[in-house]
Formats: sequence, C-alpha cells, structure tokens
Amino acid sequence: MTTQSRIPGFRDVSPAGRRAALAEHAQLAPDSLDALATGGLSLDQADHMIENVVGTFAMPVGVATNFTVNGADVLVPMVTEEPSVVAAASNAARIARERGGFHTSSTSPIMQAQVQVLDVADPEGARARLHEAAAELIGLADEQDPRLVSLGGGVRELRVRTVPGRGGSYVLVHLVVDVRDAMGANAVNTMAEAVAGRIGEIAGGRVLLRILTNKADLRLARARAVFAAEALGGAEVVDDIVHAGALAEADPYRAATHNKGIMNGITAVVLATGNDTRAVEAGAHSHAIGADGRYSALSHFEIDRDGDLVGTLELPMPVGLVGGATTVHPAARAAVGLLGVTTAAGLAEIVTAVGLAQNFAALRALATEGIQRGHMSLHARNIAVSAGATAEEIPVVVHRLIADRAVRTERAEQVLAELRSAGH
Ligand code: MEV
Repeated sequence: MTTQSRIPGFRDVSPAGRRAALAEHAQLAPDSLDALATGGLSLDQADHMIENVVGTFAMPVGVATNFTVNGADVLVPMVTEEPSVVAAASNAARIARERGGFHTSSTSPIMQAQVQVLDVADPEGARARLHEAAAELIGLADEQDPRLVSLGGGVRELRVRTVPGRGGSYVLVHLVVDVRDAMGANAVNTMAEAVAGRIGEIAGGRVLLRILTNKADLRLARARAVFAAEALGGAEVVDDIVHAGALAEADPYRAATHNKGIMNGITAVVLATGNDTRAVEAGAHSHAIGADGRYSALSHFEIDRDGDLVGTLELPMPVGLVGGATTVHPAARAAVGLLGVTTAAGLAEIVTAVGLAQNFAALRALATEGIQRGHMSLHARNIAVSAGATAEEIPVVVHRLIADRAVRTERAEQVLAELRSAGH
C-alpha cells in the first residue's frame, strides 16, 4: 500500500493520535514512530556525533499533510520552532493537489571541490597543462573512493579557472564529482586533498585551499505547481500574488524575506532528515544572485492560460541519504522512512516542493489578510491548550480570544470557566 497524505482531522488529534495515523497512512514501523516521539537520539549517540557533548536539544517535529509530488502522496516531516509553518505548508499542498500537486526534476547529484594554486608564473599555460593531465588527475581522485565509483559515481570532469588574486592570478581546479546518494562533502574533500600535490606540480605553483564549493550550481532541484484561481478567491488574488513575487524579483529587501519564507519549509525538512542545513542555505544564497549580479527571488509566480497561478522554484539542493547524521540519528532515519525516499535526488525534489509550498502560502497570506491573523489563531490555540481546554473546547476558546483581541492565558482561563459553568 502506498502513502496517503490526505488525513482528515490530523491537526485535531493528540500527538499520539497523529502517530497512529502515520502508522496507518504511511505504514511507519513502531520503532520509527518511537524515534519521532522521543527525538530518538541517545546521549551516547550524541556524544559520538560532536565534541564536548553535555546533552541533547529537543525541537518539535510536525508532519505536513496533503503533499503529492509527481503523482505520489508523501507525508513530510518538518522540524521547526516557528508556529504556522507546518499548517501553511499543508494548506498550500491541499490547494496545489487540486491541480495535480507538485512536479519536480533535478540534475545529476554533482558536487564540486576547488583546489587553489598560488604563485603560478603562467596561469594560461598551467590551465592547458592541467587539462592535458585530466585523465591522470581524475584517476587519482577516483582511486580515493572506489565504492562511490562502483555505485556509478565519481569524477565526471575537471574544470580549470583563473581568478584575480593577491599579486597575480589564482589557478582554480574544480573536480566535478557525481556523489550519488551522499551529500558529498567528505567524498569531494578527500579527493581534493589527494590530488592537490599533483595539481601543484603540474601547475608549477603552491597549493593552498582544497575544499568543496557550497555554490552547488550543478546540483539543482526544481519544483512547479499550479494553484487554481478559484481556490484562491479569484483572479484578483492571483494577480496580487504575482505582484508580491514581482516585488521580490525587483527588490533585494523584499527578496531576502521572500527567500526566508522558502527556507522556512526547506530548512525544516533538511533538519528533520539530519542533513546539513547550512550547506543548503549557502547554496540557496549563492543561487539567489543572478547572472546580472543582483540578489533576487529564488521562485517565480506567473498566470497561466487558464488564469491559474503557476509557481516555480529552482535552487541547489545538496542533501544525502548516506553518511552523516542521516544514517546515525534514529529520528532522521524515521523521517527518511516517512518520506519513503530511496535516493538523494528524490529527497532533494521533495524538499524543493516544500519550499515552493511554503513560499506560496506566505505570499497568499501577505497578499490577502496578512500573516498575523493565522499566527494569532495558532498562538491562541496554544494558549487555549495551556489553559487546559479539551479538544471540543479549543475552537470555542480560540474564537473568543481572537474576537476579544485578548490572546492571553488569564483570558483563556476565564473563558473556560464561563464555558464550563454554562455547560452545567
Ligand atoms: C516568516 O517566517 C516568513 C515570511 O515573512 C515570508 C514572506 O514574507 O514571504 C512570512
């Protein structure tokens, strides 16, 4: 049986009820459910992950519903401290699914490492010599990772660039590597360090930096979705969302906030799966600068022939399924199990779809009622729960708190007392 991401009433039940729904709708095994419930990571495991460990740090993990990506339903684990993010993604996915959900594509999983060479007398001559020695250098790099090569990965190409440096040009050698299902940092860094000496000899210079580039512009993921005008409240709303997107394309002050909204979704899934959030963020920042050198929006919004809204997003997505925390952290493994992905590309594409959903949800709110109303009702819900409201009482209390513009615990307690005395 395949996953079903439409789970009516999911938000209204307890966390245990939601886990039971995951067991039913995504066939998640009991140990994965436990890992999601408890955070999964033992102190001993944590102590092996980083240095000077004193404990572990818990964050909420929510599951976004309603996603369909390339025709298959998917339930999306998200780790975030920000209210509204999971609800907004789920709402956006519900609207997108009316027009077939999200469609995605991605390039091969290509990462690059750079080797910097200084003090080269003849940079153009060095460039030519390095290209002539490409087969030798590629062979040497591939020898570092026979397993990757046996899985169909390895160095695809050697690129040589020169950039202006201090007291002359730097020669930069790029190892262009297919890292398959890894994030790839370890693989390409090992290769770069191994070939650096030979590169220095061939170039006739001194090698300094040997490290991957987080501008992972050869490892792109793309997502597209259509949001029906009717579901958004008509042509005017569609038009205003396009205006919101156009402002982000034109103005870096707005673009930064627009892109932050995209990262609300992306970082939450990247973190849930134990991937390197900073690598993904660095890649996104670098991709937001276009060929004209201007910082701009990562996504685009247009109106199609039917008058519906079309959203598209493309960015580097260096995430992996093997190596790193993804394989050792039990909750990250459970998150990957819930997503049902078996390749890094599959994960990258879902993450990108979530980024687009999150972005659309923010623009829709901003172009209509503003975001505070949604935030306030979630906040009011939290206050109602903390004041002791039951599942039946929560909607009534939330409604009263918002109507009275008094989203405070004392007011929630008063409302509850009134409700209960009226009920007796
Ligand atoms: C808040 O975390 C994110 C938004 O500011 C994004 C946006 O403005 O597009 C709502």
